[in-house]
Amino acid sequence: MSEKPWAGRFTQPTDKFVEEFTASIDFDKRMYRYDIQGSLAHARMLARQGIISKDEAQQIMAGLESILVDIEKGKFEFKVALEDIHMNIEARLIERIGAVGGKLHTARSRNDQVALDVRLYLRDELKEILGYLDQLQESLLAQAEGNLGVIMPGYTHLQTAQPILFAHHMLAYYEMMKRDAGRMHDVLKRMNVLPLGAGALAGTTFPIDREFVAEQLGFSGVTRNSLDSVSDRDFAIEFCAASAILMMHLSRLSEELVLWSSADFAFIELTDAFCTGSSIMPQKKNPDVPELVRGKTGRVYGNLISLLTLMKSLPLAYNKDMQEDKEPLFDSIDTVKGSLKIFADMIALMKVRAENMRVAAARGFSTATDVADYCVRKGLPFRNAHEVVGKTVRYCIENGKDIPELSIEEFRQFSELIDTDIYDYVTLEASVNARRATGGTAREAVEREIARARAERKG
Ligand code: ARG
Repeated sequence: MSEKPWAGRFTQPTDKFVEEFTASIDFDKRMYRYDIQGSLAHARMLARQGIISKDEAQQIMAGLESILVDIEKGKFEFKVALEDIHMNIEARLIERIGAVGGKLHTARSRNDQVALDVRLYLRDELKEILGYLDQLQESLLAQAEGNLGVIMPGYTHLQTAQPILFAHHMLAYYEMMKRDAGRMHDVLKRMNVLPLGAGALAGTTFPIDREFVAEQLGFSGVTRNSLDSVSDRDFAIEFCAASAILMMHLSRLSEELVLWSSADFAFIELTDAFCTGSSIMPQKKNPDVPELVRGKTGRVYGNLISLLTLMKSLPLAYNKDMQEDKEPLFDSIDTVKGSLKIFADMIALMKVRAENMRVAAARGFSTATDVADYCVRKGLPFRNAHEVVGKTVRYCIENGKDIPELSIEEFRQFSELIDTDIYDYVTLEASVNARRATGGTAREAVEREIARARAERKG
């Protein structure tokens, strides 16, 4: 018998380069644990249904367990000639326990087997990713709590707009991560059905019990159509889409960290452990981690496009093209996991330079809107108020003054409605704390959101 399980109908050996070119073992071997987990459940079911004997199932299961131990100890030789992880393990099983090992593949095909393995693998990785997402949310929340009184400039168009709490800024990312976690949970929920039992494409002639296998493997149900079961990769695409959005969020945070850690902003300091120096400029401390995460966002977007393009126009059911699903999927898993892990630690250790943020927040006439709102409350239509304050700002620019520095006479040149109580409205604190409605930057509103976040994390 040839080494290849499918060699029966062939008269010539596979060309060496074709063998290498078509093999997936180099990258699909990472699913070994799930391949064995699936096979154990399958063997148990075969015996339970009387398709193989109890004794045969015992031998197969013991053989699989010993292979798992070998792989974990690094004592398993993966062979390119055996193409993929499924055939590597099966061939080894037969080698170890003899011909009875060949009964494991009864009522199964590599097509439904690979669909199962990828789901089992991604399911565990997703749980880990959700754990890291949770850690990052915790770091963001802790930064918000630890810097509650810190005021920074809020921007639109990257121009100073209105003062905000730094905590409010952190909570914006908390919200984004919360949606990311929601998307990952959705992927997890929808993908958690058993595809095994579809056979090559049409089902199997053996009296299998798919529900039993599903229960054994912790699936919430079974897929309902054999053709769809072996040709569906939606779950991988959904994961890559959720990952692309998540990385987009991290890239935005990265960009802000890069800006904020520059000498010109000097809003934060990243710990040395997350930065590197320059080989030529001794003063440099580069924010490599956020830069790299910003850069890695591109490949995660690329992986999504790769998968969508891979699946485009493929006829039902399985096609070898689909072996190409693994590298983009694995790369997105690795990249997202690594990026989240490093960000969770980096954000937790980030130092906030509150005084610099405050000085910057006071620049750029950031309380101009507050003066306009003041005039509106005194009865002026907002459009007129906007005009009044526009002129006030122009006066400030021409005279090198800031809004809170104007005398009451200077204010009143622009509107008789302005009184000495204006000074209560144009401080940074007054501006921030006036925005009290839900979702605003006022300290009390931010405190409410922090409490809410804390409660939902406990619950
Ligand atoms: N290595 C293959 C893959 O990843 C497993 C399924 C192969 N099926 C087949 N009929 N050649 O897609």
